[in-house]
Amino acid sequence: MSERSVLVTGASGYIGSHTCVCLLQNGWRVIGIDNFSNSSPKVIPRIEQIAQLPMSFHRLDIRDTSALSEILRQEHITAVVHFAGLKSVSESVAKPLDYFDNNVCGSVALLRVLQQEGIRKLVFSSSATVYGEPTSVPVTEEASTSATNPYGRSKLMVEQMLSDLINSDATWRIATLRYFNPVGAHESGLIGEDPRDVPNNLMPFIAQVAVGRRPQLQVFGDDYPTVDGSGVRDYIHVVDLARGHLAALDRLLNHAGSFTVNLGTGRGVSVLQAVAAFEQASGRTIPLQRAARRSGDIATCYASATRATELLGWQAEYGLDKMCADHWRWQHNNPDGY
Ligand code: NAD
Ligand code: WQD
Repeated sequence: MSERSVLVTGASGYIGSHTCVCLLQNGWRVIGIDNFSNSSPKVIPRIEQIAQLPMSFHRLDIRDTSALSEILRQEHITAVVHFAGLKSVSESVAKPLDYFDNNVCGSVALLRVLQQEGIRKLVFSSSATVYGEPTSVPVTEEASTSATNPYGRSKLMVEQMLSDLINSDATWRIATLRYFNPVGAHESGLIGEDPRDVPNNLMPFIAQVAVGRRPQLQVFGDDYPTVDGSGVRDYIHVVDLARGHLAALDRLLNHAGSFTVNLGTGRGVSVLQAVAAFEQASGRTIPLQRAARRSGDIATCYASATRATELLGWQAEYGLDKMCADHWRWQHNNPDGY
Protein backbone atom coordinates (compact mmCIF):
# COMPACT_ATOMS: atom_id res chain seq x y z
CA MET A 1 0.00 0.00 0.00
CA SER A 2 1.44 3.39 -0.95
CA GLU A 3 1.96 5.71 2.00
CA ARG A 4 -0.60 8.45 2.48
CA SER A 5 0.71 11.75 3.84
CA VAL A 6 -1.37 14.51 5.34
CA LEU A 7 -0.37 18.08 6.15
CA VAL A 8 -2.12 19.25 9.33
CA THR A 9 -2.16 23.01 9.97
CA GLY A 10 -2.73 23.96 13.61
CA ALA A 11 -1.46 20.48 14.54
CA SER A 12 -0.58 21.34 18.16
CA GLY A 13 -3.96 22.94 18.89
CA TYR A 14 -6.84 21.33 20.74
CA ILE A 15 -8.64 19.63 17.86
CA GLY A 16 -5.50 19.33 15.70
CA SER A 17 -3.60 17.32 18.33
CA HIS A 18 -6.42 14.79 18.78
CA THR A 19 -6.78 14.49 15.02
CA CYS A 20 -3.03 13.87 14.57
CA VAL A 21 -3.28 10.95 17.02
CA CYS A 22 -6.21 9.50 15.09
CA LEU A 23 -4.47 9.95 11.71
CA LEU A 24 -1.25 8.29 12.92
CA GLN A 25 -3.19 5.40 14.41
CA ASN A 26 -4.93 4.90 11.08
CA GLY A 27 -1.88 4.65 8.87
CA TRP A 28 -1.39 8.26 7.77
CA ARG A 29 2.05 9.84 7.72
CA VAL A 30 1.48 13.17 9.48
CA ILE A 31 3.32 16.43 8.76
CA GLY A 32 2.19 19.04 11.29
CA ILE A 33 2.69 22.79 11.20
CA ASP A 34 1.82 25.40 13.82
CA ASN A 35 3.13 28.81 14.90
CA PHE A 36 2.32 28.08 18.60
CA SER A 37 0.31 31.31 18.85
CA ASN A 38 -2.26 29.37 20.91
CA SER A 39 -0.53 26.09 21.76
CA SER A 40 2.59 24.55 23.23
CA PRO A 41 5.52 22.65 21.68
CA LYS A 42 4.99 20.07 24.46
CA VAL A 43 1.97 18.76 22.56
CA ILE A 44 3.94 17.10 19.75
CA PRO A 45 5.84 14.49 21.83
CA ARG A 46 2.60 13.71 23.65
CA ILE A 47 0.86 12.99 20.33
CA GLU A 48 3.72 10.64 19.46
CA GLN A 49 3.58 9.04 22.89
CA ILE A 50 -0.11 8.23 22.59
CA ALA A 51 0.12 6.98 19.01
CA GLN A 52 3.47 5.22 19.60
CA LEU A 53 4.46 6.57 16.20
CA PRO A 54 6.56 9.53 15.05
CA MET A 55 5.23 12.57 13.16
CA SER A 56 7.04 15.39 11.33
CA PHE A 57 6.58 18.87 12.66
CA HIS A 58 7.58 22.36 11.49
CA ARG A 59 7.08 25.57 13.46
CA LEU A 60 5.58 27.78 10.81
CA ASP A 61 2.95 30.44 10.17
CA ILE A 62 0.60 29.48 7.33
CA ARG A 63 1.06 32.97 5.91
CA ASP A 64 4.76 32.23 5.30
CA THR A 65 4.22 30.96 1.75
CA SER A 66 7.87 30.40 0.86
CA ALA A 67 8.51 28.18 3.90
CA LEU A 68 5.22 26.38 3.24
CA SER A 69 6.14 25.73 -0.42
CA GLU A 70 9.50 24.38 0.70
CA ILE A 71 7.86 21.87 3.04
CA LEU A 72 5.33 20.76 0.44
CA ARG A 73 8.16 20.16 -2.03
CA GLN A 74 10.06 18.01 0.47
CA GLU A 75 7.08 15.93 1.55
CA HIS A 76 4.71 14.15 -0.82
CA ILE A 77 1.40 15.39 0.52
CA THR A 78 -1.85 13.63 -0.41
CA ALA A 79 -4.24 15.95 1.45
CA VAL A 80 -4.41 18.81 3.94
CA VAL A 81 -6.45 19.23 7.13
CA HIS A 82 -6.62 22.95 7.88
CA PHE A 83 -7.21 23.81 11.56
CA ALA A 84 -4.89 26.83 11.93
CA GLY A 85 -6.74 29.97 12.92
CA LEU A 86 -7.89 32.12 15.81
CA LYS A 87 -11.14 31.10 17.51
CA SER A 88 -12.27 33.49 20.24
CA VAL A 89 -15.50 35.36 19.48
CA SER A 90 -14.83 38.09 22.06
CA GLU A 91 -11.23 38.61 20.96
CA SER A 92 -12.40 38.85 17.35
CA VAL A 93 -14.66 41.77 18.28
CA ALA A 94 -11.70 43.57 19.91
CA LYS A 95 -9.13 42.67 17.22
CA PRO A 96 -11.01 42.09 13.95
CA LEU A 97 -8.01 42.65 11.70
CA ASP A 98 -6.05 39.90 13.47
CA TYR A 99 -8.93 37.53 12.76
CA PHE A 100 -9.29 38.42 9.08
CA ASP A 101 -5.52 38.32 8.63
CA ASN A 102 -5.05 34.93 10.33
CA ASN A 103 -8.21 33.15 9.30
CA VAL A 104 -8.96 34.62 5.87
CA CYS A 105 -5.58 35.80 4.54
CA GLY A 106 -3.96 32.73 6.14
CA SER A 107 -6.35 30.46 4.26
CA VAL A 108 -5.76 32.35 0.99
CA ALA A 109 -2.00 31.94 1.46
CA LEU A 110 -2.35 28.21 2.15
CA LEU A 111 -4.69 27.65 -0.81
CA ARG A 112 -2.38 29.49 -3.20
CA VAL A 113 0.54 27.28 -2.22
CA LEU A 114 -1.59 24.13 -2.51
CA GLN A 115 -2.75 25.21 -5.96
CA GLN A 116 0.81 25.91 -7.02
CA GLU A 117 2.01 22.52 -5.76
CA GLY A 118 -0.91 20.59 -7.29
CA ILE A 119 -2.49 19.50 -4.00
CA ARG A 120 -6.28 19.49 -4.36
CA LYS A 121 -7.69 17.68 -1.33
CA LEU A 122 -8.55 19.76 1.71
CA VAL A 123 -10.54 19.41 4.93
CA PHE A 124 -11.53 22.78 6.40
CA SER A 125 -12.51 23.52 10.03
CA SER A 126 -15.71 25.51 9.90
CA SER A 127 -18.13 26.05 12.74
CA ALA A 128 -21.79 25.93 13.69
CA THR A 129 -21.31 29.64 14.27
CA VAL A 130 -22.03 30.10 10.54
CA TYR A 131 -25.71 29.29 11.25
CA GLY A 132 -26.05 32.49 13.29
CA GLU A 133 -29.35 32.26 15.18
CA PRO A 134 -30.96 29.09 13.76
CA THR A 135 -34.65 29.40 12.93
CA SER A 136 -35.22 25.72 13.74
CA VAL A 137 -33.38 22.78 15.33
CA PRO A 138 -31.87 20.34 14.59
CA VAL A 139 -29.87 22.52 12.21
CA THR A 140 -29.34 20.97 8.78
CA GLU A 141 -26.56 21.94 6.38
CA GLU A 142 -29.18 23.66 4.18
CA ALA A 143 -30.06 26.18 6.90
CA SER A 144 -29.31 29.78 6.05
CA THR A 145 -25.96 31.17 7.16
CA SER A 146 -25.06 34.47 8.78
CA ALA A 147 -22.53 35.87 11.20
CA THR A 148 -22.79 38.29 14.07
CA ASN A 149 -19.09 38.77 14.88
CA PRO A 150 -15.73 38.94 13.04
CA TYR A 151 -14.79 35.34 13.97
CA GLY A 152 -18.00 33.99 12.45
CA ARG A 153 -17.59 36.24 9.40
CA SER A 154 -14.05 34.94 8.89
CA LYS A 155 -15.37 31.36 8.79
CA LEU A 156 -18.18 32.31 6.40
CA MET A 157 -15.74 34.17 4.14
CA VAL A 158 -13.48 31.13 3.90
CA GLU A 159 -16.48 28.88 3.19
CA GLN A 160 -17.54 31.22 0.37
CA MET A 161 -14.00 31.39 -0.96
CA LEU A 162 -13.78 27.58 -1.02
CA SER A 163 -17.08 27.39 -2.88
CA ASP A 164 -15.76 29.82 -5.53
CA LEU A 165 -12.55 27.82 -5.80
CA ILE A 166 -14.48 24.58 -6.38
CA ASN A 167 -16.56 26.36 -9.05
CA SER A 168 -13.40 27.54 -10.78
CA ASP A 169 -11.72 24.14 -10.83
CA ALA A 170 -13.66 20.91 -10.37
CA THR A 171 -10.52 18.93 -9.54
CA TRP A 172 -10.59 20.35 -6.01
CA ARG A 173 -12.07 18.00 -3.43
CA ILE A 174 -12.95 19.99 -0.31
CA ALA A 175 -14.68 18.85 2.88
CA THR A 176 -16.12 21.71 4.91
CA LEU A 177 -16.80 20.43 8.43
CA ARG A 178 -19.05 22.52 10.66
CA TYR A 179 -18.20 21.59 14.25
CA PHE A 180 -20.72 22.08 17.03
CA ASN A 181 -19.23 22.35 20.56
CA PRO A 182 -16.06 20.27 20.94
CA VAL A 183 -15.27 19.16 24.51
CA GLY A 184 -13.46 16.35 26.32
CA ALA A 185 -9.93 15.10 25.87
CA HIS A 186 -7.99 12.00 24.89
CA GLU A 187 -8.66 9.29 27.46
CA SER A 188 -4.92 8.99 28.19
CA GLY A 189 -5.16 12.37 29.95
CA LEU A 190 -2.03 13.46 28.04
CA ILE A 191 -3.61 15.97 25.65
CA GLY A 192 -6.59 18.28 26.02
CA GLU A 193 -7.77 21.86 25.79
CA ASP A 194 -5.47 24.40 27.45
CA PRO A 195 -6.89 27.93 27.19
CA ARG A 196 -4.24 30.63 27.57
CA ASP A 197 -6.49 33.17 29.32
CA VAL A 198 -9.84 33.02 31.08
CA PRO A 199 -11.76 30.32 29.19
CA ASN A 200 -14.55 31.62 26.96
CA ASN A 201 -16.15 28.22 26.56
CA LEU A 202 -18.29 26.38 29.07
CA MET A 203 -16.50 23.04 29.59
CA PRO A 204 -12.96 24.39 30.13
CA PHE A 205 -14.41 26.94 32.56
CA ILE A 206 -16.26 24.25 34.53
CA ALA A 207 -13.06 22.15 34.60
CA GLN A 208 -11.02 25.05 35.99
CA VAL A 209 -13.63 25.60 38.71
CA ALA A 210 -13.57 21.87 39.54
CA VAL A 211 -9.78 21.86 39.86
CA GLY A 212 -9.83 24.97 42.08
CA ARG A 213 -8.38 27.54 39.67
CA ARG A 214 -11.61 29.59 39.68
CA PRO A 215 -14.16 30.05 42.46
CA GLN A 216 -17.41 29.62 40.54
CA LEU A 217 -19.11 29.33 37.18
CA GLN A 218 -21.33 32.12 35.95
CA VAL A 219 -24.40 30.69 34.23
CA PHE A 220 -25.28 33.14 31.49
CA GLY A 221 -29.08 33.42 31.35
CA ASP A 222 -31.84 31.65 33.24
CA ASP A 223 -34.86 32.56 31.15
CA TYR A 224 -34.16 30.98 27.77
CA PRO A 225 -37.07 28.93 26.41
CA THR A 226 -35.26 25.66 27.22
CA VAL A 227 -35.68 22.74 29.60
CA ASP A 228 -34.29 24.68 32.60
CA GLY A 229 -33.82 28.24 31.29
CA SER A 230 -30.10 27.84 30.53
CA GLY A 231 -28.63 27.67 27.01
CA VAL A 232 -28.69 24.41 25.07
CA ARG A 233 -25.82 23.22 22.84
CA ASP A 234 -24.58 20.13 21.03
CA TYR A 235 -21.40 19.08 22.87
CA ILE A 236 -19.28 16.59 20.95
CA HIS A 237 -16.31 14.58 22.23
CA VAL A 238 -13.11 15.82 20.58
CA VAL A 239 -12.08 12.24 19.76
CA ASP A 240 -15.35 11.69 17.89
CA LEU A 241 -14.63 14.95 16.07
CA ALA A 242 -11.12 13.72 15.20
CA ARG A 243 -12.62 10.52 13.76
CA GLY A 244 -14.90 12.68 11.63
CA HIS A 245 -11.81 14.13 9.92
CA LEU A 246 -10.54 10.65 9.15
CA ALA A 247 -13.90 9.77 7.59
CA ALA A 248 -13.89 13.01 5.57
CA LEU A 249 -10.38 12.29 4.26
CA ASP A 250 -11.40 8.76 3.27
CA ARG A 251 -14.32 10.20 1.34
CA LEU A 252 -12.09 12.74 -0.44
CA LEU A 253 -9.63 10.01 -1.44
CA ASN A 254 -12.30 7.80 -2.92
CA HIS A 255 -14.86 10.19 -4.44
CA ALA A 256 -14.65 13.26 -6.66
CA GLY A 257 -16.52 16.37 -5.52
CA SER A 258 -16.81 18.49 -2.41
CA PHE A 259 -19.21 18.55 0.52
CA THR A 260 -20.25 20.38 3.67
CA VAL A 261 -21.27 18.41 6.78
CA ASN A 262 -22.17 19.09 10.38
CA LEU A 263 -20.16 17.27 13.02
CA GLY A 264 -22.36 17.08 16.09
CA THR A 265 -24.19 14.45 18.10
CA GLY A 266 -27.69 15.65 17.28
CA ARG A 267 -28.47 16.01 20.99
CA GLY A 268 -28.96 19.24 22.93
CA VAL A 269 -27.63 19.63 26.47
CA SER A 270 -28.32 22.59 28.78
CA VAL A 271 -25.66 24.39 30.82
CA LEU A 272 -27.16 23.01 34.05
CA GLN A 273 -27.21 19.47 32.64
CA ALA A 274 -23.54 19.83 31.63
CA VAL A 275 -22.65 21.06 35.12
CA ALA A 276 -24.48 18.12 36.75
CA ALA A 277 -22.68 15.63 34.49
CA PHE A 278 -19.32 17.21 35.27
CA GLU A 279 -19.99 17.12 39.00
CA GLN A 280 -20.82 13.44 38.70
CA ALA A 281 -17.67 12.68 36.67
CA SER A 282 -15.32 14.66 38.90
CA GLY A 283 -16.88 14.15 42.30
CA ARG A 284 -16.46 17.91 42.83
CA THR A 285 -19.13 20.53 43.44
CA ILE A 286 -19.27 23.40 40.93
CA PRO A 287 -20.46 26.57 42.69
CA LEU A 288 -22.79 28.50 40.39
CA GLN A 289 -23.67 32.15 40.09
CA ARG A 290 -26.64 33.19 38.00
CA ALA A 291 -25.68 35.94 35.57
CA ALA A 292 -27.27 37.93 32.77
CA ARG A 293 -27.40 36.50 29.27
CA ARG A 294 -24.09 36.82 27.43
CA SER A 295 -24.37 39.25 24.54
CA GLY A 296 -24.70 37.47 21.19
CA ASP A 297 -25.70 34.10 22.72
CA ILE A 298 -28.59 32.07 21.35
CA ALA A 299 -31.01 29.86 23.28
CA THR A 300 -30.64 26.54 21.52
CA CYS A 301 -28.42 25.03 18.87
CA TYR A 302 -27.90 21.39 17.99
CA ALA A 303 -27.02 19.56 14.81
CA SER A 304 -28.82 17.40 12.38
CA ALA A 305 -26.16 14.70 12.16
CA THR A 306 -27.85 12.73 9.37
CA ARG A 307 -25.74 13.88 6.45
CA ALA A 308 -22.48 12.94 8.16
CA THR A 309 -23.79 9.41 8.69
CA GLU A 310 -25.12 9.06 5.14
CA LEU A 311 -22.11 10.55 3.40
CA LEU A 312 -19.24 9.55 5.66
CA GLY A 313 -20.59 6.58 7.59
CA TRP A 314 -19.64 8.54 10.70
CA GLN A 315 -21.53 9.20 13.88
CA ALA A 316 -20.58 10.38 17.34
CA GLU A 317 -20.09 7.46 19.73
CA TYR A 318 -19.40 9.12 23.07
CA GLY A 319 -22.00 10.61 25.39
CA LEU A 320 -21.90 13.48 27.87
CA ASP A 321 -20.62 11.30 30.74
CA LYS A 322 -17.52 10.25 28.83
CA MET A 323 -16.94 13.82 27.58
CA CYS A 324 -16.90 15.01 31.20
CA ALA A 325 -14.86 12.07 32.53
CA ASP A 326 -12.15 12.53 29.90
CA HIS A 327 -12.14 16.33 30.22
CA TRP A 328 -11.79 15.96 33.97
CA ARG A 329 -8.92 13.40 33.73
CA TRP A 330 -6.99 15.83 31.51
CA GLN A 331 -7.64 18.80 33.84
CA HIS A 332 -6.91 16.82 37.00
CA ASN A 333 -3.63 15.41 35.64
CA ASN A 334 -2.58 18.80 34.21
CA PRO A 335 -4.12 21.43 36.54
CA ASP A 336 -2.10 24.24 34.96
CA GLY A 337 -2.25 22.91 31.42
CA TYR A 338 0.85 21.92 29.44
P1 NAD B 1 -6.69 25.97 18.88
O1 NAD B 1 -6.42 27.43 19.08
O2 NAD B 1 -6.43 25.04 20.01
O3 NAD B 1 -5.85 25.45 17.62
C1 NAD B 1 -5.52 26.27 16.51
C2 NAD B 1 -4.03 26.15 16.27
O4 NAD B 1 -3.67 26.94 15.15
C3 NAD B 1 -3.21 26.66 17.47
O5 NAD B 1 -2.27 25.66 17.84
C4 NAD B 1 -2.51 27.91 16.94
O6 NAD B 1 -1.24 28.09 17.52
C5 NAD B 1 -2.46 27.62 15.45
N1 NAD B 1 -2.43 28.80 14.60
C6 NAD B 1 -3.22 29.90 14.65
N2 NAD B 1 -2.91 30.75 13.67
C7 NAD B 1 -1.89 30.19 12.98
C8 NAD B 1 -1.14 30.58 11.83
N3 NAD B 1 -1.35 31.75 11.23
N4 NAD B 1 -0.16 29.75 11.38
C9 NAD B 1 0.09 28.57 12.01
N5 NAD B 1 -0.59 28.14 13.08
C10 NAD B 1 -1.58 28.94 13.55
O7 NAD B 1 -8.18 25.82 18.36
P2 NAD B 1 -9.05 24.51 18.12
O8 NAD B 1 -10.13 24.50 19.10
O9 NAD B 1 -8.18 23.33 17.96
O10 NAD B 1 -9.70 24.89 16.72
C11 NAD B 1 -9.18 24.42 15.49
C12 NAD B 1 -10.01 24.97 14.34
O11 NAD B 1 -11.37 24.58 14.54
C13 NAD B 1 -10.03 26.50 14.27
O12 NAD B 1 -10.00 26.87 12.92
C14 NAD B 1 -11.35 26.88 14.92
O13 NAD B 1 -11.84 28.09 14.42
C15 NAD B 1 -12.22 25.72 14.49
N6 NAD B 1 -13.36 25.50 15.40
C16 NAD B 1 -13.14 25.35 16.75
C17 NAD B 1 -14.21 25.17 17.60
C18 NAD B 1 -14.01 25.05 19.09
O14 NAD B 1 -14.95 25.33 19.83
N7 NAD B 1 -12.85 24.64 19.58
C19 NAD B 1 -15.52 25.11 17.09
C20 NAD B 1 -15.70 25.24 15.72
C21 NAD B 1 -14.62 25.44 14.88
C1 WQD C 1 -22.00 27.24 25.68
C2 WQD C 1 -23.14 27.60 26.64
C3 WQD C 1 -23.21 29.92 27.23
C4 WQD C 1 -19.47 29.99 29.50
C5 WQD C 1 -18.70 29.14 20.99
C6 WQD C 1 -18.48 29.92 19.74
C7 WQD C 1 -18.64 29.03 18.55
C8 WQD C 1 -17.78 27.77 18.65
C9 WQD C 1 -17.93 27.10 19.96
C10 WQD C 1 -15.74 28.11 17.43
C11 WQD C 1 -23.84 28.90 26.28
C12 WQD C 1 -22.93 29.08 28.45
C13 WQD C 1 -20.55 29.60 28.74
C14 WQD C 1 -19.69 30.36 30.86
C15 WQD C 1 -22.03 29.88 30.58
N1 WQD C 1 -16.38 28.05 18.52
N2 WQD C 1 -21.80 29.54 29.27
N3 WQD C 1 -20.96 30.28 31.35
O1 WQD C 1 -21.26 30.03 22.68
O2 WQD C 1 -22.11 27.77 21.91
O3 WQD C 1 -20.02 28.63 20.99
O4 WQD C 1 -17.78 28.05 21.02
O5 WQD C 1 -16.16 28.03 16.32
O6 WQD C 1 -18.29 29.78 17.44
O7 WQD C 1 -19.43 30.97 19.67
O8 WQD C 1 -20.06 27.88 23.33
O9 WQD C 1 -18.96 27.04 25.36
O10 WQD C 1 -19.02 29.54 24.95
O11 WQD C 1 -21.11 28.36 25.57
O12 WQD C 1 -23.15 29.85 31.07
O13 WQD C 1 -18.76 30.76 31.58
O14 WQD C 1 -22.58 27.80 27.94
O15 WQD C 1 -24.06 30.99 27.55
O16 WQD C 1 -25.20 28.73 26.59
P1 WQD C 1 -20.98 28.65 22.26
P2 WQD C 1 -19.69 28.22 24.83
